[in-house]
Amino acid sequence: MHNVDEFSENVNLSPSLSRSRDYSGIAKGAEDQWTLKENRNAFSRILFRPRILVDVSKIDMTTTVLGFKISMPIMIAPTAMQKMAHPDGEYATARAASAAGTIMILSSWATSSVEEVSSTGPGIRFFQLYVYKDRNVVTQLVRRAERAGFKAIALTVDTPRLGRREADIKNRFTLPPSLTLKNFEGLNLGKMDKTDDSGLASYVAGQVDRTLNWKDVKWLQTITSLPILVKGVLTAEDARLAVESGAAGIIVSNHGARQLDYVPATIMALEEVVKAVQGRVPVFLDGGVRRGTDVFKALALGASGIFIGRPVVFSLAAEGEAGVRKVLQMLRDEFELTMALSGCRSLKEITRNHIVADWDQPRVVPRL
Ligand code: FNR
Repeated sequence: MHNVDEFSENVNLSPSLSRSRDYSGIAKGAEDQWTLKENRNAFSRILFRPRILVDVSKIDMTTTVLGFKISMPIMIAPTAMQKMAHPDGEYATARAASAAGTIMILSSWATSSVEEVSSTGPGIRFFQLYVYKDRNVVTQLVRRAERAGFKAIALTVDTPRLGRREADIKNRFTLPPSLTLKNFEGLNLGKMDKTDDSGLASYVAGQVDRTLNWKDVKWLQTITSLPILVKGVLTAEDARLAVESGAAGIIVSNHGARQLDYVPATIMALEEVVKAVQGRVPVFLDGGVRRGTDVFKALALGASGIFIGRPVVFSLAAEGEAGVRKVLQMLRDEFELTMALSGCRSLKEITRNHIVADWDQPRVVPRL
């Protein structure tokens, strides 16, 4: 296994890994999965303009996110129910992130609680929030995350209803009886009923607040002093509103193509958001990042860092904590090599001029 994609493929194909096969089934995209493919394809429409003869004997990949120093601009996106991928679930991911010196975002729908994850040891962790209709539940959960040492809230804003994930509908997806949404266990909201279609879609319809709007981003700031990242922005208009609403950062995300199908690849939406934000807050990206070159392209288009989702759950399924460590190391090595081969010694040396996208102004070609 030589790269992150091969790693994922091995997981999907290996008959002995039934656990992971279950997980690959629930890691699909919405409807036609057009956006799922596009999240990957769009990266191939960006080419490099490498600079040569730069002394690249020393490469510095470190960066700072919301004031926290990390070893590289590669972080872990929130993915739900990680114990379905591996018995160690979120514990393994938390330990691997910490060992790699990077940030993990824990999902609201984790199969381990904020307290349990924090008990794995030191590490910089953010908490991903789904806002429930019952705001007491939200307030309690945010306070618990704060007390457990989480450093920021990533507010997911693209899920007033669950996207149409046809694999989940067909499989009548529900959480196995041995697992619960641990953060909600004590609130009697930790279980998911089996239904005729997707149990998760029914759970969302019952619990998640569809009225969520920009005023709630301000409300959230009244119940916590933690910085808020708005996760799920795809347009300049919403990027401006996010900044005006007090967001400390923006994650350009289409939820790994699991919500509205036929939205653009995140790497294509990124620059519009970056321009609208005008440096007032950092902009991050997730969606389809599988190569060090992808990380570089996102940074060249103005991202301060990227998050990976599926590579983490698939590698977790295959090899637990060791697998997640391996995936982080692979991406790190590839990114470092990309920096060296394009003549960049630090993240701030990565510029828009190091890439050309096929949606850029057509370059003048000589007439024959
Ligand atoms: C997700 N994602 C997600 N997002 C979120 O805000 N809360 C969640 O609980 C989950 N759960 C989840 C489960 C699974 C199986 C997947 C694949 C994705 C979306 C995730 O945070 C991220 O946006 C994407 O996964 C990024 O795209 P890639 O890296 O998977 O292509």
